[in-house]
Amino acid sequence: MRESNISIKDKIRLLSEKPVSLKEYQIKGKESFLNDSFVLNKNIKNKEEIFYPLAHSTWDHKEHNAIIDQLYTGNLTMGEKVESFEKSFAEHFGVKYAIMVNSGSSANLLIAAALILLSKYDFKKGDEIIVPSLGWSTSYTPFTQYGIKLKFVDIDYQTLNIDSEKINNAISKKTKGVLAINILGNPSEFNKIKEICDKNKLLLIEDNCESLGAKYSKKYTGSFGVAASHSFFFSHHIQTIEGGMITTDDRDIFEYARSLRAHGWTRDSIEKKSINDTPIAKFRNSFNFILPGYNLRPNELNGVLGLTQLQKFPNFLKRRKENARIFKKLLGNQTYCSIQKCDEDSSWHGFSILLEGSLKDKRDHVIYELHQNGIETRPILTGNFLKNSVCSFMNYEISGILRNVEAVDRRGFFVGNSHINLENQLLRLTETINKFHKKIN
Ligand SMILES: Cc1ncc(COP(=O)(O)O)c(C=O)c1O
Repeated sequence: MRESNISIKDKIRLLSEKPVSLKEYQIKGKESFLNDSFVLNKNIKNKEEIFYPLAHSTWDHKEHNAIIDQLYTGNLTMGEKVESFEKSFAEHFGVKYAIMVNSGSSANLLIAAALILLSKYDFKKGDEIIVPSLGWSTSYTPFTQYGIKLKFVDIDYQTLNIDSEKINNAISKKTKGVLAINILGNPSEFNKIKEICDKNKLLLIEDNCESLGAKYSKKYTGSFGVAASHSFFFSHHIQTIEGGMITTDDRDIFEYARSLRAHGWTRDSIEKKSINDTPIAKFRNSFNFILPGYNLRPNELNGVLGLTQLQKFPNFLKRRKENARIFKKLLGNQTYCSIQKCDEDSSWHGFSILLEGSLKDKRDHVIYELHQNGIETRPILTGNFLKNSVCSFMNYEISGILRNVEAVDRRGFFVGNSHINLENQLLRLTETINKFHKKIN
C-alpha cells in the first residue's frame, strides 16, 4: 500500500496500533513502517466480533435524558450542575472538598500546581517526589513540568502498587513527597506509607484515577493524601465522557484549584464571592487574575452525567466485585499465572494477569489466542514507565532495582471489568488460556 493511498485517519490508527519508538519510526521510514503495520493489523477484529471488550458503556436512557434536559436549559458552561456534582461527590467519598475538572490528568496537574504555588508547602523547583515505576504518563508529567525531580521506585509484585519498603531508601534531603497510585482499583498500603510520610514530613499525594470506590481500613481511597485525583473517562468506574475530580480536606488547595482551573482568576473563590455583591464590585473584581492558571473546566453536561452516574455507582461497584469473585475463583489458583493481590477493599478497575511457569515467556501467544477468541487485552498501564521515551524530557532518578515492574512489563496484561455480569466472558478467558497451556505442555 502506498502512503498516498492511506487516509490521515488510517495513518493515525496504524501508527497508534503498533507500539514503536520515535527512533525506530525514523530509521525504518514512514512508508515501510506503515506497510508493516498494515500486515500486522490485518487481523484486528471488528467491534461486533469482540466477545469480551476492555470496557462497556455504563449509560442508558437516564444519561441520554439528562444530556437532553440540560441541553434545553441552555446552560452548558460550568455552573450549578458541576457544583452540585462536586458537593455530592465530596459527601459520598467522605472528603471536605471536591473540584471537578475536564480529566483525571487535569486533576493531577492542578494538584501539582496548587501544592507548588502554595508557599506553605515549601514544595519547589529542584525538590524531589518518590513515585512508583508503574503509573500513567500524566501521573508524572505535571511534577516534571513544574521542575520537580521524580525518584522512581519498584512496585510490589503482588499488589502492583508502590512497594512501601522501597520508599525509605529513596528519601533524600530534597524529598518533599510521595505519590501513591492506586493501581487498577487496589488501595496502596496507606498505614505504612502514611507512617513514613509523617515521620519524614513528606506530602502524600494520591492518584486515584483507577480506583474510585476502593477502601482501605473502611475509608475511601482518595481521602488519605493531602489531595487526590479521580478520572471519569470511558473505561473508568463512572463515565462523564471526559472528566476528573480533585478531592482534598485542605481549604487552600480547594481555593487554589478553583482559581487555577479557570484562568487563575478570583471569580470562583468561595472566600471572595461575597465581595461581588454590587455591580461596581463585580465590575472591579470579575477579571482579577492572581495565579498562573489554565482553563480545565468541565461543562454542565459533564456535571449532570456525574450526578446521574453517581446514583448508579453503588450498583456498578457491587457487580464489579461479584465479577472479581468469579475471576479469583477461576484464575486465582492456576500455576500458569498470578493475579493482583487485593487484601483491602478493591474497586476492581480491571483484572491483571502475570504469566508464570510454562507460560512465562509466552505472552504474545496468549494475547494472540485471546484475540482469536474475541477477548481484548492491554498492557498493565504503561508497563515499566521508564521504558517510555517521554522520560528523556524528565528529570528523574531510579532508586534500587526495578525488578517487579519489569516482570509486569514483560509478562503482564489485563482484561476488563465492568458493571455488567462477566461470568461468560471470564469463563471463555480461562478456557482459552487453559487450552493453550495444555497444548504447549
Ligand atoms: C493512574 C492514572 N492516572 C491518571 C489517568 C488520567 O486520567 P484521564 O484519562 O481522565 O486524563 C489515568 C487514565 O487512565 C490513570 O490510569
